Amino acid sequence: MKLARRLSLIEPSPTLAVSAKAAALRAKGLDVISFGAGEPDFDTPSHIKDAAKRALDAGATKYTLVEGTPALRAAVAKWLGKAHGMVIEPGEIIVSAGAKQSLFNAMHAIVDEGDEVIIPTPAWGSYNEIVKMAGGRPVTVAGAPENSFVPRIEDIEKAISPRTKAILFSSPCNPTGSMMDEKTVRAIAAMAVKHDFWIITDDIYRTLIYGDARFFQPATISPEVRAHTVIVDGVSKSFAMTGWRIGFACAPKFLVEAMGTLQGQSTTNAAAVCQAAALAAIEGPTDELESMRVEFDRRRKVMIKALRAIPGATCVEPQGAFYAFPDFSAFLGRKTPEGKTIANDAQLCEYLIEAARVAVVPGSAFGAPGYVRLSYATSMKNVEEGVSRIAAALPRLT
Ligand SMILES: Cc1ncc(COP(=O)(O)O)c(C=O)c1O
Repeated sequence: MKLARRLSLIEPSPTLAVSAKAAALRAKGLDVISFGAGEPDFDTPSHIKDAAKRALDAGATKYTLVEGTPALRAAVAKWLGKAHGMVIEPGEIIVSAGAKQSLFNAMHAIVDEGDEVIIPTPAWGSYNEIVKMAGGRPVTVAGAPENSFVPRIEDIEKAISPRTKAILFSSPCNPTGSMMDEKTVRAIAAMAVKHDFWIITDDIYRTLIYGDARFFQPATISPEVRAHTVIVDGVSKSFAMTGWRIGFACAPKFLVEAMGTLQGQSTTNAAAVCQAAALAAIEGPTDELESMRVEFDRRRKVMIKALRAIPGATCVEPQGAFYAFPDFSAFLGRKTPEGKTIANDAQLCEYLIEAARVAVVPGSAFGAPGYVRLSYATSMKNVEEGVSRIAAALPRLT
């Protein structure tokens, strides 16, 4: 029996593959430090869990409206409106099972067979796959490390064609932690209006920003730009709620309705109890969020300093999210003590897991061969020990 052609176009998630390998080695009793995780190591704050327990007892066990409960849509409209200084109506919001489903819905509502979506890279690998699942063609535009991986405006412009339907990026970015500067966002917005394509901003790491970095949402530029923008946001990363699967999209009403039609014929609504939890999250106290952010920042500094101290490695300073993205290309082409040549970043990651018992994700999974991604969403002890293991293993390559 054959599978559909669509499956031959889609790559499985490499991040999940790394986590699975680390878990398999751990199950054998080996002490593996995993920098693979794309989720906070903190537990969901207890007031959110308590709200979910209460909601279950109060009957949050049924279908909700496809687009989300009226209470959550209204709260998200208010929450995003406050964050961006905009007035947002509940009808401009749709709640989905994670930001990933919001992106999936948006892409399927926007892209026809053969349409193009511009993706600044390095970027989260799922963008390519979601575009392809919708029948579209990802058009990547690489940013250089000297420019914090933000692509040059002229390179983005060159990527535009009559088939361009959207540009999609996350700021802060997974995997680099870089942020799109305001000048570039304004230039992208001007291009989107001129050539009439969508700007899909994946703001899932919006609240995890460090130092002087500032978030800039293009929808705030003008009503015209807002009419071309889909804001994707959610509770997964900021509220340590990855497993609850709640994300949101904010877009012009006709697009929200289209996304609702798609969702209504696929997953229907996000789980009722999880919507109640998300409501408690965004309406509740923010002190625990801030303490998580501060802890991520502490680990970020320690990890970057240690990575930069490795001879041959360089690392752009991440401004947000919880990832470091060092350039380890200097170690490619070298030999392991056993005489095996490390030909690419995937083999380098295999070497690190075998020789150093540290799991990291190859940069090629994000369109950046020669790099690796380390998540510092793990304890400070793991950050210190894991990077020192890497620092000891890399010089053994000759
Ligand atoms: C850039 C980016 N967008 C979206 C997501 C998915 O978010 P959610 O768990 O809410 O679906 C991730 C998760 O790794 C991500 O890194």
